[in-house]
Amino acid sequence: MAMIAPSILSADFARLGEEIQDVERGGADWLHVDVMDGLFVPNISIGIPVVQSIRRATDMFLDVHLMIVEPLRYAARFCEAGADMVTVHVEADTPANITAALETIHACGKKAGIVLKPATPAAAAEPWLAMADMVLVMTVEPGFGGQKFMADMLPKIRALRRRLDEVNPACRLEADGGVDTDTAPLLTAAGCGVLVAGSAVFGRADRAAAIRGIRDAR
Ligand code: DX5
Ligand code: ZN
Repeated sequence: MAMIAPSILSADFARLGEEIQDVERGGADWLHVDVMDGLFVPNISIGIPVVQSIRRATDMFLDVHLMIVEPLRYAARFCEAGADMVTVHVEADTPANITAALETIHACGKKAGIVLKPATPAAAAEPWLAMADMVLVMTVEPGFGGQKFMADMLPKIRALRRRLDEVNPACRLEADGGVDTDTAPLLTAAGCGVLVAGSAVFGRADRAAAIRGIRDAR
């Protein structure tokens, strides 16, 4: 059964603490935190002080998705702010700097992952498969919640799960974007163990029912 990581991008930021407690009570496994810099993606969301505040508001595992250029510059600071997992886009810097970012996150004692945009092929993840704790496959263009799921990402997810089972079976595979009760079963069947859901959770009044619905969808 997949773990569900609600994305706070679709939460009411004026009531963020209550929103987080609502999904925690509702049975969320992780909390997904989207950090956007307005350069790597055409949107700006939240940064280090908000992660610090979230850390004080919950004991949930914080899965911090960095959609920022040159993530090495800030990786340690997000770890210190309270992230449990920090993921960096392979498109966001040189391969050497992406490796350095993962090493920095590990040196902080946190889990480290890589993220692939929709146009980035599975093979691009190869240099980091052995060292990553998670591979995140974007199933929408990063930047905004509420977009349509890209079903053509499913073969990429299956290919990555196959390769991970060969080189790093403990590595998690996560999908982000357009996850709902219709798409979740496709993703779990393809090998995803963690599903990020923004609008499908925070867009519903009953968050517990929303989380349960996605987790139990067949
Ligand atoms: C998009 C973010 C996602 C977003 C998903 O760039 O990475 O985490 O919140 O939103 P939904 O679930 O609404 O597609
Ligand atoms: Zn995300």
